[in-house]
Amino acid sequence: MRHKIVAGNWKMNKTLEEAQALTSEIMGMVADEVNGSVKVVLCVPFPYLVTIKNQLGANATIFVGAQNASEHDSGAYTGETSVAMIKSVGVPYVIIGHSERRQYFGEDAKLLATKVNKVLAGGLTPIFCCGEPLEIRENGTHESLVKQQVEESLFHLSANELKKVVIAYEPVWAIGTGKTASSQQAEDMHAVIRKHLASKYGAEVSESISILYGGSVKSDNAKELFSQPNVDGGLVGGASLKSREFVEIVKAI
Ligand code: PGA
Repeated sequence: MRHKIVAGNWKMNKTLEEAQALTSEIMGMVADEVNGSVKVVLCVPFPYLVTIKNQLGANATIFVGAQNASEHDSGAYTGETSVAMIKSVGVPYVIIGHSERRQYFGEDAKLLATKVNKVLAGGLTPIFCCGEPLEIRENGTHESLVKQQVEESLFHLSANELKKVVIAYEPVWAIGTGKTASSQQAEDMHAVIRKHLASKYGAEVSESISILYGGSVKSDNAKELFSQPNVDGGLVGGASLKSREFVEIVKAI
């Protein structure tokens, strides 16, 4: 059985004080709502990883995640953060290849393949993002683009490595726009991704991979999105910054 996961991507938001307040609100509410079948991941800004991890303590449901990691091991890379550093502070998840990293920081498929390798070699879980921009959706080549993104950054992995990856499908036109993919559009693409994984790794491996949907997930659309058979949870941006809204999304799973 694959895991149900709701991950909040806080992006570059919140002061430390606000981050701690949000975490404590989420902890208070999630404790009552979730029965152990769901993992909640808070992908917080780097400066808060240790504090929020300590705040979560031994919480069995809520985990902390980083939003990026360097493709290098160590050395003269000013401003970068290595997987070893993230690992050394006990953070289990790392988002890799978010569309904002691809778009604003020029991260391409080859670089992301290297980052995925580093994260897995460190024993951490990559949340690998893929998804098409609007013009690709409009010209109808979205399925082949997303398959290509998955193939170029993940298909070099062994089956055992791939099983440790979480995939997030995030259509770029739905991120931060308030324009969610319909549950059918999400399900269709998730099924395409799963089938593509099966073509290389077989059905058993492909059925074990959690595929999250991201892009304007809100409390009022989460239930329908999460009810799709191939949608195993969400990667939530804007709505993860408000505790009640985020917890409603967690509950929807
Ligand atoms: P959004 O962001 O929920 O604000 O659309 C999702 C994401 O970028 O992961």
